[in-house]
Amino acid sequence: MENPKTAHCLVTGAAGFVGSHLAEKLLAQGHTVTGIDCFTDYYSPSLKRENLERMQGNSRFNFVSADLLETDLPGLLAGNQSKGVKVDYVFHLAAQAGVRASWGKSFEIYTRNNILATQTLLEAARKVPLTKFVYASSSSVYGDAETYPTAEDLIPHPISPYGVSKLAGEHLCILYWRNYKVPTVSLRYFTVYGPRQRPDMGFNKFIRAMLEGSEFEIYGDGEQTRDFTFVDDAVQGTIAGAMTDVKGEVFNIGGGSRVTVNQVLSVLESILNTRAKVKYIESQKGDVRHTAADIRKAQRLLNYQPRTPMKDGLSQEAAWLKGAMAAVQGR
Ligand code: NAD
Ligand code: UGA
Repeated sequence: MENPKTAHCLVTGAAGFVGSHLAEKLLAQGHTVTGIDCFTDYYSPSLKRENLERMQGNSRFNFVSADLLETDLPGLLAGNQSKGVKVDYVFHLAAQAGVRASWGKSFEIYTRNNILATQTLLEAARKVPLTKFVYASSSSVYGDAETYPTAEDLIPHPISPYGVSKLAGEHLCILYWRNYKVPTVSLRYFTVYGPRQRPDMGFNKFIRAMLEGSEFEIYGDGEQTRDFTFVDDAVQGTIAGAMTDVKGEVFNIGGGSRVTVNQVLSVLESILNTRAKVKYIESQKGDVRHTAADIRKAQRLLNYQPRTPMKDGLSQEAAWLKGAMAAVQGR
């Protein structure tokens, strides 16, 4: 970033999985960080409070416990939570995540937290000049893509309500750049994993069940693929998205580890030295069959390069979950 020692970063969704890692990294790089999160109950708010623990003692970290739609966002960007120091960089990660839960009545929550909250934050960003506004988008915008690996210029056809909501956020970012010069970039993360991964996500569920010796469900035949991305790599791509001069653009942030779910289970069996007790059930509505990121644009313009081999990343997630489960048992 231009003046790395003095940049003031706002991280929305700072108590979440990716947001907490990003905020920690920005602090480690010497920035001042204001985090905001309202601890939605999609998964246990106490897990989110734990995600914040390491940052709480840092004098460059301010935390605002508030809903984006119920707080003074222009004031927040102007620096009213940070001794009047205005925000330079917005990292907008707050959202209702989760592909399969986005059907039915719960789409109201996706509409509110993914579309309306993004539009409201962009409106606030019109009034306070920013260096960059980075939006966390999703590979789910592609749906069942026509080509793999998929490049950013392919016309997206999401197949889940969640994907529709994330694509709407992306379009809003482009509109606010074109019309009001809010300096946005959108990053399409591909299934992020690692320590603190959300408990509704696949790897977290698989590892927990394998450590407990219990049976777990695989949706479909397990031959679906994902371009799984280790969280440190996603964070590296996110900070690179803030540093680039490019605006109004979309980038794939993939992990370079496109594997089937069955292959993941084999790796976990060798890491955990146990057999997976798998029950194959029907595939779920909204789940795409494959994802694969063409990351050449991110390599060229962001200097983005995923670095974590899947076995290392899975070992780190397993070690974290082992510790977390032991801590719960010890209480
Ligand atoms: P997460 O649920 O762990 O974090 C999101 C956080 O946003 C939560 O802590 C939640 O309480 C907060 N939040 C939601 N609505 C809010 C509101 N109105 N006001 C304030 N806070 C609010 O999710 P995550 O996995 O860390 O995902 C982070 C971002 O990355 C999301 O935008 C998600 O759509 C995107 N993404 C994630 C993945 C992934 O694999 N984890 C992949 C693609 C895209
Ligand atoms: C993930 C995130 O949950 C979304 O928020 C994000 O937007 C999306 O990545 C993305 O990349 O855009 P998903 O790929 O479904 O979505 O991630 P997981 O929940 O970790 O699932 C990975 C794979 O495991 C999927 O094929 C899923 O069907 C499978 N799975 C998951 C199971 O077979 N069983 C489970 O219990 C959970």
